[in-house]
Amino acid sequence: MKIVFATNNENKLKEIRKMLGIDFEVMSLKDIGCHVDIPETGDTLAENALLKAQYIFDNYGVSCFADDTGLEVETLNGAPGVHSARYAENTDHDSEANMTKLLRELGENNNRRARFCTVIALIIKDTQATDGRNTLLFEGEIRGHIARKKHGNEGFGYDPLFIPEGYEQSFAELGIDIKNKISHRSKAVAKLSKYLKSNNSCI
Ligand code: IMP
Repeated sequence: MKIVFATNNENKLKEIRKMLGIDFEVMSLKDIGCHVDIPETGDTLAENALLKAQYIFDNYGVSCFADDTGLEVETLNGAPGVHSARYAENTDHDSEANMTKLLRELGENNNRRARFCTVIALIIKDTQATDGRNTLLFEGEIRGHIARKKHGNEGFGYDPLFIPEGYEQSFAELGIDIKNKISHRSKAVAKLSKYLKSNNSCI
């Protein structure tokens, strides 16, 4: 089955291709000739995921899905949350700067509980629907805590700082195989995969 994933983030693509496996051919934005950085101006993860999926559906007419992920830290009242990509001032997807700011904000605080949440928006063609589409959302989360310093070299984003519940190593130390079994994204993707397989609904 072929489906477009509205991203050019190579790390996310690698994770999602591995999760969906050989039953799916996942195409990136580059694969469909889209080089636009779709603005993420929503107030929630769901709104941002929908903005990206809707942009692709409206401009390319293909069934597609998009994800948006946030890291929510309890003692920071859920920050960085929907602003995770631009947490450090005057930056955009600068993981080092974001992690530095997070460690600074947390300081020596002993409550370091946090969770990652992913929302996937899927839009598939539906000729029966008045707007020609069927839109669905799938969510996944993982709880854990923020380490006092960075650990490990694998993964991306905040992975060196996030230690999932039940583990003593960060996502960046555990590596992609373990991360993919337990992560926020893998839980959302499992729901997406189940839906796509049961509805045979790709492009
Ligand atoms: P976005 O979903 O690409 O907008 O990501 C929001 C922010 O969270 C970015 O700074 C990403 O690097 C980070 N991020 C997204 N997914 C993950 C993940 O699985 N692990 C660690 N950081 C992530």
